Amino acid sequence: MTHDTTHLNRERIFFDPDETIWLFGYGSLIWKAEFPFHEHRPAHIEGWARRFWQGSHDHRGTPEAPGRVATLVESPYSVCQGMAYRIDADTLGPLDVREKNGYLRERVILHFQDGSHAEGLIYLATEDNAAFLGDAPLEEMARQIATAHGPSGANRDYLLNLAAALENLGAQDEHVSTLMTRVSSIKN
Ligand code: BEZ
Repeated sequence: MTHDTTHLNRERIFFDPDETIWLFGYGSLIWKAEFPFHEHRPAHIEGWARRFWQGSHDHRGTPEAPGRVATLVESPYSVCQGMAYRIDADTLGPLDVREKNGYLRERVILHFQDGSHAEGLIYLATEDNAAFLGDAPLEEMARQIATAHGPSGANRDYLLNLAAALENLGAQDEHVSTLMTRVSSIKN
């Protein structure tokens, strides 16, 4: 699959465009919600685990030295916590452009803290996209995150912001906290 998924996402219309849509953020969307929304609520999705397995050539790295950012992998008993935003359908257009580097819209069930649930969307980067990096030894991932920089800033800051946002949500994520420990031990 090509790096630029903007045109593919335009075809991925899963909901009535006249109704609002729940978008679940598990990465930068948790702390960087620079789009209009009607409300936001902490939420989780089940059967998915957050992993720093997606390459970033356009935000937190460069084509020569890509950074690593979050995607989700299927994991039967895992729970991924994040933030849900209720948005208008036309808000997806600019987000498709922002998240164009291999991410596709996918449908998921979102669970809210009051026990209710709703169908919604995630942006998902799977292993068949050209920017996917996949798993690697933890030290290698940490070194890459500690050193990569891109137009949106240091890859290290992405991890830091995510860890802080998860802490604010009271969410535990061992993958993120282990990476934080390793990256913090590597000097800038
Ligand atoms: C997220 O926070 O959910 C997200 C951010 C960028 C790309 C894909 C997902």
